[in-house]
Amino acid sequence: MPDISVEHSTKHNDGRGQSAFYATANKVPLPLIERASGIHMWDDQGTSYIDVSSGPVVSNIGHGNAVVAEAMAAQAKKMEYAFARLAQNRPNIEYCQRLAKLAGPGFERIHLTSGGSEAMENAIKFLRQYAIATGKPSKTRVITCQPSYHGATIATLAMNGEIMMKPFLQGFTEPTPKIPAPLTYRLPPNHNIKSYARHCADALESRISELGASNVLAFVIEPVGGLSTGCVVPSREYICQIREICTSHAIHLVFDEILCGMGRTGKFLAAHHWPDALPDIVTMAKGMASGYSPLGAVLAPAIMVDELADLTGFEFQYSYNANPVSSAAGLAVLDEYARLDLTNNAIVTGAKLRKGLESLKAKLPIIGDIRGLGMLLAVEIVADQTTKASFENELQPTDLVRIHGLNNGLMIYSRPTSGGKYGHWFLVSPPLTITTEEATELLERLERTLRDLSDQLCQQNPLE
Ligand SMILES: Cc1ncc(COP(=O)(O)O)c(C=O)c1O
Repeated sequence: MPDISVEHSTKHNDGRGQSAFYATANKVPLPLIERASGIHMWDDQGTSYIDVSSGPVVSNIGHGNAVVAEAMAAQAKKMEYAFARLAQNRPNIEYCQRLAKLAGPGFERIHLTSGGSEAMENAIKFLRQYAIATGKPSKTRVITCQPSYHGATIATLAMNGEIMMKPFLQGFTEPTPKIPAPLTYRLPPNHNIKSYARHCADALESRISELGASNVLAFVIEPVGGLSTGCVVPSREYICQIREICTSHAIHLVFDEILCGMGRTGKFLAAHHWPDALPDIVTMAKGMASGYSPLGAVLAPAIMVDELADLTGFEFQYSYNANPVSSAAGLAVLDEYARLDLTNNAIVTGAKLRKGLESLKAKLPIIGDIRGLGMLLAVEIVADQTTKASFENELQPTDLVRIHGLNNGLMIYSRPTSGGKYGHWFLVSPPLTITTEEATELLERLERTLRDLSDQLCQQNPLE
């Protein structure tokens, strides 16, 4: 047993908060952020940082928004909580109506959660309960992509296409069956982007026939990738093909829009880029309350929700579902999106950022690929632009991006997927409120960051 004497406890009560749990924070302490406004954050030393990735693509409306803060305070003063199984509340009703209107036909019913992982869990539980209630109890398998990210609860960890989790999951919970994600940069030999996308969609068909269609509940995919694939954008053909496959086998298609929804890609839902191949279920979170409150959602068709409600009802809840203060935050965030025309700015300033990144790529051989949609962009770092060779993992390129970013006044989110097996990248997805001038400043700081990173990596890199 560890020593938990009073003396020990006092010695270790060193004010590190949650960062005490993180390996990297032990090497380079995380800055202590005291205040934030717009795209900027300031630490306790007064150093400012541009929030390059909106945290993990959360702070879509920017920091320090008084309208949202006041809406939440007003709701908390009026009525802070009413348990959703015992009472309805008006902010929840209004918010669900507004979201459903923005999501459009096929997404009339909204189940609110406290975040993305919970939304993903609830989407699968909803489909499972629907399958049982409608006489299809053999439908248990959920197919996901390799690589992919769907959350950090035990069930969603099993859904993630993350090979580093193998020992953690072994004998603990069963990973979902995987098919390759339609990656676009590092392709297997003899494939181009188009042929590889077809290969990946064909893999869905094969996996379904291996498992037996009557056993497959759903196929879950990030329609535009986040950190797991470095913002991979699949082709229209791919999306149409997976839609067709799912329909033909009566398998639900689920879009995980937890990161890419809420206007990030230039449409309210990423699904709206392919309106004739809509999914059956969408999950959202992150930008919904933009960091002001924990909030996520499952979007489902009225026809399914109402049928299940008539049969058994969807019988799962958490204490914070449909929370009035979170709903008030969500409503105020939607007002701010409309007032500031944020979805449009994802297109306009997103294009400027992309252009700026492309010109950095022309100057800096360390940039291998720029990809993404709207203002959801990723920069892939390589040791060699021609061969696409990655830096050695031991050099910890993604960690170094974060550290050099901090030294140059940037807060950058980067994390290697599957221990760097698919490459190393970081996200450029600042708050959607970013102006042209701020985008220029971001790019200037990023150029300095990448030059510093390149100097350090190229000195150490055995490939050089
Ligand atoms: C695509 C995707 N799905 C699910 C999640 C999990 O969301 P949360 O961290 O809110 O639980 C994330 C979080 O990064 C995500 O990017």
